[in-house]
Amino acid sequence: MVHLGPKKPPSRKGSMVDVPKNLMQEIAKLEALFTVDAPKLKAITDHFVTELTKGLSKKGGNIPMIPAWVMDYPDGSETGDYIAIDLGGTNLRVVLVSLLGDGKFDVSQSKYRIPSYIRTTKNHQDLWDFIAVSLSNFYKETFPDGTTEKIPLGFTFSYPCSQTSIDTGVLQRWTKGFDIDGVEGHDVVPMLNNALKQHDVPIEVFALINDTTGTLVASRYTDPQAEMGLIFGTGCNGAYYEKVNAIPKLEGKLDPTVDLNGPMAINCEYGSFDNEHLVLPRTKYDIIIDRDSPRPGQQAFEKMISGYYLGEVFRLVLLDLHAQRLVFEGQDLRDLQEAFKLDASFLATIEEDPFENLNDVEDLFTDVLGISTTDPERRLIRRLAELIGTRASRLSVCGVAALAKKANLKVCHAAADGSVFNKYPNFQERAAQGLDDIFDWNLPIDQHPIKLVAAEDGSGVGAAVVAALTAKRIAAGKAVGQLEA
Ligand code: BGC
Repeated sequence: MVHLGPKKPPSRKGSMVDVPKNLMQEIAKLEALFTVDAPKLKAITDHFVTELTKGLSKKGGNIPMIPAWVMDYPDGSETGDYIAIDLGGTNLRVVLVSLLGDGKFDVSQSKYRIPSYIRTTKNHQDLWDFIAVSLSNFYKETFPDGTTEKIPLGFTFSYPCSQTSIDTGVLQRWTKGFDIDGVEGHDVVPMLNNALKQHDVPIEVFALINDTTGTLVASRYTDPQAEMGLIFGTGCNGAYYEKVNAIPKLEGKLDPTVDLNGPMAINCEYGSFDNEHLVLPRTKYDIIIDRDSPRPGQQAFEKMISGYYLGEVFRLVLLDLHAQRLVFEGQDLRDLQEAFKLDASFLATIEEDPFENLNDVEDLFTDVLGISTTDPERRLIRRLAELIGTRASRLSVCGVAALAKKANLKVCHAAADGSVFNKYPNFQERAAQGLDDIFDWNLPIDQHPIKLVAAEDGSGVGAAVVAALTAKRIAAGKAVGQLEA
């Protein structure tokens, strides 16, 4: 058949020419819902600064702002051998770190997959035994002839813990889907030390470290411009150095050996920003995620931006569109109905699909969800992934901008790590654009005064440097915690 009239323009990647009107309208609605413009970012940041300040006050606030008892800047000269572990969402990472001085180090590491039942076990001993056995295996492989002394362990435990010293940490609450009975409200250090003793492992916790503190310290070990340690991963959080005398809640609790004009690393735990829902532009999907989570009302900020939740927001939107008969008519949605079926890498693959006709998206939906998609549906799917990814990156930097404002940092490196920062397509560019919008720089990314840079290994090198700094303080007779109550 001869096609009459003007030639149809070729469909471009991302083009919406073939998308029916009702879906176009839906896309426009989603764009309005998920877009966070510059004025909103600025308003969020301003409120964030107030909340950071509140967290340091005697009265406290939603953001815990936990003193991490790292009261020195590393200068690269630190040396020594340490074992570090990082209890992440999926793996336990065990690292032998040799700090060589001069900002140099060697690491050798093993990973142990955390059996999935442990995330929500009723018996917390399962967790400690698992760590002790993994450490025992690592120790035997690394030191086949044993060691004369116990090895000091830097324990990176990336959950909010109140710390009265560098080697204590009372878990405030689990985050990121972990929900193990009997740990909240308890100091995790003796729990691990006891398990190590029971399993005859000559290793002892020397320092308990949040991943953000580790990231800050590791990055500072090699880069004097590093002022923040940030994690954009399964969870989100940031650490920075505050002046001791700007932390009112420590007044009266400090040993005279603590320099009041010196620095104190603060693990902000800012995933809990805006738990009272005053400024964040929550959608009905965010509200459902919170409602159905093990800890409703907690981690409001984290639940909108971190990798653990991105796929879930996406899944809920698609289910909603299907309920309105806008997509996937007549398809079996059983797989899509499964909570947390999709992780952030699913969205990343969608955003990375290089094909005009979104072939990868098509395969992904058939393979993972058993759903066959039409071309317009795939356009909507791609746009939705972009919107969720963009919202996450732009909101994420409100924490960074707020830390910069709070600590009066005009020019610095914000050292970042985590799966979302490292792997999610366009996250870094979008985040940088968000910072530019907040600060009105109007500059190309490489000229940004506050630069997001890839961090050094926080839970390995960082934990070791913290342990080395702690050992130095102890040797000098300086306190590594607050006065006994
Ligand atoms: C935890 C923080 C951690 C962050 C990144 C959050 O869920 O509360 O302690 O730093 O995840 O791993």
